[in-house]
Amino acid sequence: MLKKTADREHVLPLLEELGGVTEENVRRVAEQTGVPEAEIWGAGTFYTLLKGGPRIRVCNGLSCRIQGSDQLVADLRAKGKEVEEVSCLGQCDRAPAALDESMQVFDTSKQQRSITPADDKLPLNLGGEQDYSFAALAKARELGKDGIIKALEESGLQGRGGAGFPAFIKWRGVAGQADPVRYVVCNADEAEPATFKDRETMLRRSDKMIEGMAIAALVVGAKDIYFYIRGEFNAEAAAVQEALKRAGDHVKDWNWHFHRGHGAYICGEETALLESMEGKRGMPRLKPPFPFEFGFRGKPTLVSNVETFACVPYILLNGGKAFKDQGKTEPGSKLYCISGHINKPGVYELPLGATLDELVEAAGGYEGTPMAFSPGGASSGFLPISKRDVPLDFKGLQKEGSMLGSAGVVVLNDTVDMAKAAQWQLEFFEDESCGQCAPCRIGTRYLHNQVSKYLETGDPTPLKNAADVGWEMEEGSICGLGMVAAKPLENAMQYFPKAFEKR
Ligand SMILES: Cc1cc2nc3c(=O)[nH]c(=O)nc-3n(C[C@H](O)[C@H](O)[C@H](O)COP(=O)(O)O)c2cc1C
Ligand code: SF4
Repeated sequence: MLKKTADREHVLPLLEELGGVTEENVRRVAEQTGVPEAEIWGAGTFYTLLKGGPRIRVCNGLSCRIQGSDQLVADLRAKGKEVEEVSCLGQCDRAPAALDESMQVFDTSKQQRSITPADDKLPLNLGGEQDYSFAALAKARELGKDGIIKALEESGLQGRGGAGFPAFIKWRGVAGQADPVRYVVCNADEAEPATFKDRETMLRRSDKMIEGMAIAALVVGAKDIYFYIRGEFNAEAAAVQEALKRAGDHVKDWNWHFHRGHGAYICGEETALLESMEGKRGMPRLKPPFPFEFGFRGKPTLVSNVETFACVPYILLNGGKAFKDQGKTEPGSKLYCISGHINKPGVYELPLGATLDELVEAAGGYEGTPMAFSPGGASSGFLPISKRDVPLDFKGLQKEGSMLGSAGVVVLNDTVDMAKAAQWQLEFFEDESCGQCAPCRIGTRYLHNQVSKYLETGDPTPLKNAADVGWEMEEGSICGLGMVAAKPLENAMQYFPKAFEKR
């Protein structure tokens, strides 16, 4: 007989503790949890960090590729090192990024990374002093559930995890459920290539994030609060633990739990994340039902992004309007990540709706002659530099057939071959597809192979049905990964047709 769910939730942490998936480890976990060995193999082999064995991991994401990750891999292998190429390490601002055998970042970058200087008027103020007075939590207790939701509504805060869904609707939705057991989950998985804002927020302003999560728990009536933190983020997880200690009595009304990711980009998708927390393969669920009604362990669950939670203290202390007024075309300030061909990659807090030029100005200017940019992570595809005046916000980019997503902006200058850039992005999606929908599983591999064939032979024939395949992927996929995976290729072919002519 299978043991209860709670034991299954121990499977992945136990495998991690034992050093990964091996016959011996799987047997031991089965003995300790009562979960069948086959199920443990099934879950464990889904996650790259549970493969075990020390190795250097070099990122081959877009920003790292254009800053020379292929050369770094070749150099390390020439020295006899064991190297694994991975899709993303969340370190695009020190490209080409690499982790050593003990998972520490080693700096291989010539670029200078940076953040917005301290400014108390900014809602997130990454460079500012941490504040453990938790005045916003005290204010929240005064305002009560309805007052907090009203302030959120006035602020216009849209979720910062990618979809831009209004925060107040989600909070109200969870609070209004009949089931008395509810959970709050912070999505700190951050694995979209080009994105590293949650990393900086956890390192620098965990105080704000934790306070926002406590306020959320107050509103939705949760006793248990979870962090789902990307597996590679060791320093960040330590920073959050330290912040919880410093928050002390302010947060003692809740049970705080940590769940470390194990190396699967798809677990950033909220339902895949919940599956993973329950000890299973991180495969997205069919929606509806949405997590606000059927989430962790089937209970109403508020899943929100690190930055979304971190915005909340400012809103309660200064009022919704003050937050809203920080925006340019849409409400609030926004943490933009920028990397690629610019001088100072990093995280910049700007009015939501800033343009590319405004962001690049904050980031020390362009490196070379800009040609294209990817405005919101791999999922947002590419835009030509002629679109540099489009506001980097949710609606403006949607109008261009792109998206703000995680606001991970990558600038490409005219030295980049756009067919290669599309090939790199497709490789990422092929590697990270969870494989449960045929259009996504087969489509990502097919398109990647077709672009590779074109690059090998110079003959564009293999690309003639790319648009049809892209359409099938968009229509036939369960989650956002498969729906947008063809976009980088489609955009590159649309805006840079010369890069796809006979060579
Ligand atoms: C493929 C995929 C990956 C995602 N990765 C992340 C992620 O790393 N972090 C995140 O907060 N949201 C991610 N999301 C969005 C989440 O599903 C969810 O919308 C978000 O956590 C909700 O938080 P918010 O309302 O604060 O935006 C991802 C979505 C998809 C489709
Ligand atoms: S679209 Fe792709 S990643 Fe998403 S559930 Fe389907 S196979 Fe998995």
